[in-house]
Amino acid sequence: MCVKTIVTTSVLKAASFIRKGETVAFPTETVYGLGADCFNEKAVMKIFKVKGRASDNPLIVHIHTKSQIRLLVREITESAYRIIKKFFPGPVTVILEKNDLVPHLVTAGLNTVAIRMPSMKFTREFIKKCGVPIAAPSANISGKPSSVTWEHVQNDFKGRIPCILKGPEVKYGIESTVVDCSVEPPVLLRPGKITLEELQRIIPEITLVNKSSKIKSPGMKYRHYSPEAKVIFWNTENRKLAADNENSAYIGLNKPDASFRKIKICKSPEDYASSLFSFFRECDREGFKKIYVQKVQRTGIGLAIMNRLDKAAARQ
Ligand code: TXA
Ligand code: MG
Repeated sequence: MCVKTIVTTSVLKAASFIRKGETVAFPTETVYGLGADCFNEKAVMKIFKVKGRASDNPLIVHIHTKSQIRLLVREITESAYRIIKKFFPGPVTVILEKNDLVPHLVTAGLNTVAIRMPSMKFTREFIKKCGVPIAAPSANISGKPSSVTWEHVQNDFKGRIPCILKGPEVKYGIESTVVDCSVEPPVLLRPGKITLEELQRIIPEITLVNKSSKIKSPGMKYRHYSPEAKVIFWNTENRKLAADNENSAYIGLNKPDASFRKIKICKSPEDYASSLFSFFRECDREGFKKIYVQKVQRTGIGLAIMNRLDKAAARQ
């Protein structure tokens, strides 16, 4: 597949591709998405193909106004209502029982659909101009780190998708929190920008998905967020090894007691979360073979950081 990829800042121009049944990469406050008309199966199929995404891994449907939720679901549960009221628009995705209009391809055969209303105004203007909700996974080749800039998208998809919508800078750099509200009490399937603690403030019973339980989020079983370089947790044993390795980079909150050719010390856990994918991609571009990553506490945004690091490190 070889097409001309245009990069545009016009939401109208980008929306015209969606209306023609094409795919468009677009920014959100979390990461870039690769979108298509959620009601057009042929268009949605193109997303799976170009990403190399497994067909049993469902997509998130993006909306520009809360009233579009009704186009997608049977009913809005009490817990979903609370999350929507507090966090929509924003970096959280709710899962609800789908209606018959949502194609099975979008939900990978599940009877539930994931819905998100981005807080980036530019994204919502784009979706509005499309005239339909937009099914979109993160805009990266399956298994790779998510794209945080339009250049990342271009690296993965140049010549393979017709349009990249270039917009304001991505704010968070880590994907949305995914909450299954089709069950009671709701289950946090993917930690993200909105923390478990924030959710528990409005729904105290909410629980974190149990690793050993039956896989609830199909995406959980796949390789994820992995750069070409090997990702290794920084600890006392590997300290010596890493220090004299010219091909190693380091990212964390604290300065390591070893020298690296490339080091990123993050100012806060939030900064760590938003720097991670860009750092991974930068290291690949610069030819690093190993990336040492510092562990953080699994609280607040730390839960999302550790979720991504565990997956990135699990590949090897
Ligand atoms: O921030 C984000 O969420 C970004 C931007 C573009 O919105 N999107 C994103 O999409 O990260 P993706 O496809 O990379 O991750 C969506 C996750 C996957 O783990 C998928 O398995 C899960 O959500 N998911 C989607 N629909 C689901 C459903 N009906 N039931 C359970 N899990 C679902
Ligand atoms: Mg993804």
